[in-house]
Amino acid sequence: MTADGTTQFAFDEARSADLVVAAMTGAKNERLRQVMESVIRHLHAVVKEVEPTEEEWMTAIKFLTETGHMCTEWRQEFILFSDTFGVSMLVDAINNRKPSGATETTVLGPFHVASSPLKKMGDTINLEDKGEPLIVSGTVVDENGKAIEGAMLDVWQANSEGFYDVQQKDIQPDMNLRGRFVTGADGRYWFRSSKPLFYPIPHDGPVGALLRNLGRHPYRPAHIHFIVSAPGYQPIVTHLFDKNDPYLASDVVFGVKDSLVSEINQHDDPGRAAEIGLQNPFWSLQHEFKLVREK
Ligand code: BEZ
Ligand code: FE
Repeated sequence: MTADGTTQFAFDEARSADLVVAAMTGAKNERLRQVMESVIRHLHAVVKEVEPTEEEWMTAIKFLTETGHMCTEWRQEFILFSDTFGVSMLVDAINNRKPSGATETTVLGPFHVASSPLKKMGDTINLEDKGEPLIVSGTVVDENGKAIEGAMLDVWQANSEGFYDVQQKDIQPDMNLRGRFVTGADGRYWFRSSKPLFYPIPHDGPVGALLRNLGRHPYRPAHIHFIVSAPGYQPIVTHLFDKNDPYLASDVVFGVKDSLVSEINQHDDPGRAAEIGLQNPFWSLQHEFKLVREK
């Protein structure tokens, strides 16, 4: 019993969060208790600010239920929810603070496939021979600009219609537009591909419906994904974006960082095209990845 005659466990609107927090003092895992205290305090604050009707609260519960039902081996609707409301980028930023000049990171996305084919420098990752030819090249260097030998670039991208191979298993060849490349002593990499195009994230589920209700489009600006790693260095998960893409300023997952925006230039040069094994005209993208040593 408290001084004012109420029992300490009885529900009270003003003390609602304190009551729940007090019920968790016996937690075996202190980090879990701390995280849940923060979640509960913020959630109760949101509910107090919004004052949802019971019907509105059921709409929120239904949204979460449908989000769970949408998840399969190939579809992670909760990650899409996190991505489209900026949380994935925030978690990424907190966990990947880098010295200035080092390559910045961005979201992984749902379409990475582990152990994609190991390729030789100069190989093509475009197994369909569709789209506009593109050569991607550059170097992997350390913080002093010194070439890193043995760096691995794990690369993947959508095709010219905006679909990844794993979204079109009966249409695209397996492992289309993905591959892994390892640098030699000069730290250089180059591969052939097709020019990426903007595409919508999967938007036929509850997250897509929420975006539509909020007046938001589902598009990501054209990009190529990279995981760049090397022994002794912090690996980075990142993309390179097409500077001229119409969705650059409104990426649905907020993944764009200035340093990752790249020029993709067109060349009309039959001699050079023949030399690198591309049809003329072709596009080129160049980028230097700068890795930071492991702590
Ligand atoms: C992607 O770029 O592959 C992606 C990232 C976040 C959500 C959906 C797709
Ligand atoms: Fe992507």
